[in-house]
Amino acid sequence: MGRRKLVVGNWKMNGLKAQLGEVEAIGALAVRCPAVEVGLCLPATLIAPARAVNGAAFIGAQDCHMNQSGAHTGCLSAAMLAEAGASWTIVGHSERRQDQGETDADVAAKAVAGKAAGLKVILCVGESLDVRDAGDAESVVAAQLLASLPEGAAADWLAIAYEPIWAIGTGRIPTMEAVEAMHRALRAALTTKIGAQAEGMRILYGGSMNGDNAAELMAIADVDGGLVGGASLTAEKFAPVIEAAA
Ligand code: G3H
Repeated sequence: MGRRKLVVGNWKMNGLKAQLGEVEAIGALAVRCPAVEVGLCLPATLIAPARAVNGAAFIGAQDCHMNQSGAHTGCLSAAMLAEAGASWTIVGHSERRQDQGETDADVAAKAVAGKAAGLKVILCVGESLDVRDAGDAESVVAAQLLASLPEGAAADWLAIAYEPIWAIGTGRIPTMEAVEAMHRALRAALTTKIGAQAEGMRILYGGSMNGDNAAELMAIADVDGGLVGGASLTAEKFAPVIEAAA
């Protein structure tokens, strides 16, 4: 109830300065849809230049290190990302859980580090196709969420993104009934841990969300927005997703 829709593009490892025109155009879309909180989680190299061209959509990062500083070659702290102009960061995306072996405890620590640097955080969870086919998706993802949930989790700085791994970049999505059941289960799991805060916490859907399916997904009671990959790379593709949330 009363949760403002949050629609965030995750550009993953895509985007050079040549694409700043798209960032600017997406910022203009955000101006046209003030009911929706719009953001772009960009490659770290684009955060500062994106802030220079974009006023209305927030600019975020896609990951942060769990430590504030130290001997971690190639990594970026949350404070560095904040200084570059990020106001949000994603943590726990399944691509990082798989490719970098990030554990639930790592993800929780990264969320705490983000919060400490003043960032808002999108925490990702989701099941594999095997888990979905075995009929265990809701219990497995709820357990993953509770294990990844940071200390002090609260609706004013944390959002959850449910992303079935098998739906990411595949063009396949769960049935609307399955999405509804999952989001309901995740809010119930949150309630066991953080009580009334769970009611205000936004739970996004991610995985092949696009202009064709966004309106139906956004209409589901506990779907409070989207984390969008491929369909966020241009303003033309992203526009109908943002408008579906308005
Ligand atoms: O973070 C975004 C998701 O992984 C979804 O990606 O929209 O390309 O399926 P996709």
